[in-house]
Amino acid sequence: MQTDSSPRRDIGVFDSGVGGFTVLRELRALLPTARLRYLADAAYAPYGSRSPEEIRARSLAITEHLIEQGAGLIVIACNTATAHAIDALRERWPALPFVGTEPGIKPAVAASRNGRIGLLATPATASSDRLRALIARHAGSHEVVVQGCPGIVDHIEAGDIDSTELRALVEHHCAPLRTAGVDTALLGCTHYPLIEPLWRAALGADVKLLHIETAVARRAAELWTPMPGQPGLDIETSGDPAALRAWIARVLGWGELDVRAHRTRKEPA
Ligand code: DGL
Repeated sequence: MQTDSSPRRDIGVFDSGVGGFTVLRELRALLPTARLRYLADAAYAPYGSRSPEEIRARSLAITEHLIEQGAGLIVIACNTATAHAIDALRERWPALPFVGTEPGIKPAVAASRNGRIGLLATPATASSDRLRALIARHAGSHEVVVQGCPGIVDHIEAGDIDSTELRALVEHHCAPLRTAGVDTALLGCTHYPLIEPLWRAALGADVKLLHIETAVARRAAELWTPMPGQPGLDIETSGDPAALRAWIARVLGWGELDVRAHRTRKEPA
């Protein structure tokens, strides 16, 4: 455990599961000398079908753990946790820098020619007040078609990134965007870039597809203060470590990394 006198120099990164790896791989590339601590809350995935209270409780418990492990900067590599918990986290740890992940409405507005933008997100993000406020603030006169996509994250968590069933589900969720004639679409969940070819196939080559992971990693890099210490990557999961190890090797091709089991003390009510 970290004592109060030792500096908290690591970067803590969390997601409901494997989606945050899309942010983590950008962070690894940008900050090769940092120590990164990733926590996959797989026992509670998907967050997108949980209540705001549960998402907040999980985010608070995980952040507390990452701080105890030595994190001095927290990257919320999850749109759903950002939508429902970032305010509570900032309130609980006012001196700690947090980087959230939110759909890039501004870049989408800049990219769109016809003024119609699609946003694909988890059900909990799609229905959040924070997303409504983000759109009201940045979309101007552009129309934003928000599509909640239940089911997608479950497939990806299970290691399915290409089945016929998943392709059909992606088609189904993209249909309203096609009907609306959007020319730009945002992937508003960090899991979604892991199946980017499927979104592209369903939306058609004319639709520009934007995601945000690189911008999130850049923001974290700006806030991170390099300090002498051991660079590296620590991975924990509240789910099955062997399953996550296999997922990482198969989907990311990172080889057999060590993955530790994580048990939080506070469980959501
Ligand atoms: N990857 C997450 C996001 O960006 C959460 C997905 C989920 O657990 O539903 O929203």
